[in-house]
Amino acid sequence: MSIIRSVISGTGSYLPKNIVTNKDLEKKIDTTDEWIIERTGIERRHIAADDELTSDLAVQAAKNALAQANMAADDIDLIIVATSTPDQTFPSTATTVQRKLGLTKGAAFDIQAVCSGFIFALTTADTYIKAGQAKNVLVIGAETFSRILDWEDRTTCVLFGDGAGAVILSAQMGNGDNQDRGILASKLHSDGRYNDLLYVDGGVSSTQTVGHLRMKGQEVFRHAVVNLASVVNEVLDQTGMTSKQVDWIVPHQANKRILDGTARKLKISADKVVITVQKHANTSAASIPLALDVAVRDGRITQGQIIILEAMGGGFTWGACLLRW
Ligand code: UT7
Repeated sequence: MSIIRSVISGTGSYLPKNIVTNKDLEKKIDTTDEWIIERTGIERRHIAADDELTSDLAVQAAKNALAQANMAADDIDLIIVATSTPDQTFPSTATTVQRKLGLTKGAAFDIQAVCSGFIFALTTADTYIKAGQAKNVLVIGAETFSRILDWEDRTTCVLFGDGAGAVILSAQMGNGDNQDRGILASKLHSDGRYNDLLYVDGGVSSTQTVGHLRMKGQEVFRHAVVNLASVVNEVLDQTGMTSKQVDWIVPHQANKRILDGTARKLKISADKVVITVQKHANTSAASIPLALDVAVRDGRITQGQIIILEAMGGGFTWGACLLRW
């Protein structure tokens, strides 16, 4: 049976020029390079310049993805930006990206699912494509988390960085079996009971301020490994595949110990996990498309391989996509 599949036809990413190492942070707060590396795997992070907005990072990543896909901005009929750090409360960062790319047609909107944002955006784009509503969707994860960090709270400020990643998701006909290229399965979850474990203590309606990120790290960590392994098993079950058939896992990059723990639980060898957390830190919705772009451009990810993307973040929200490259 012939069906519409969503295939990634291009990837791109962008990191701000300014690099802040753990040693740099040692000079400002009560922390050490050793503590950060041992507990998180993070060695450094990129921080946006004062005049660099989330939409600027997003546009650079989008241009790189369009170039790789050999497409012009005009080929795009939908833009979805996953971000929790938008330029403005409204309009959406996606409409700003649309303007900066010189596009006046199609639709553009933001999705907010914190660190799971890219999985939520990709799954939404896939649904639009399968419904025949869009042919080429620009899906971006872009963040300037440095703007919502409390730089005096050592338990959170060392963990995050800024950046953007993008993919072009394109409609392609498939046979409806696991040999098809494109997204073969996806699953999203949310559970609002856990709001107070990872949140920002400000907002338009509540405090009329932007607020700062607050996290009960250990509790988030505990939920992360369990939820991520479970949602990966759900997408494997949807296709009837096993973890042995997976070529690469490209996880949300929060903490190397979470990545190792999830891979162990899934019985997937550590060398099949794409890890960028050491260089990028946690870039929230940007971390998966950033890591994906690294592994595509360095030649690890090649056509025909089975890839799993997975993430968990504030809300809680979590989800996974399984695709054949
Ligand atoms: O992307 C969204 C999802 N987010 C996550 O997945 C994050 C999940 N959580 C984590 O990654 C980890 O829980 C953290 C990296 C946040 C913390 O690691 P941990 O091993 O759970 O450390 P802890 O919170 O138990 O803290 C251990 C000690 C504490 O000192 P005491 O109470 O034992 O004396 C902290 O005060 O480490 C101390 N500490 C620090 N020391 C030096 C906390 N932050 C720092 C720091 N530098 N930056």
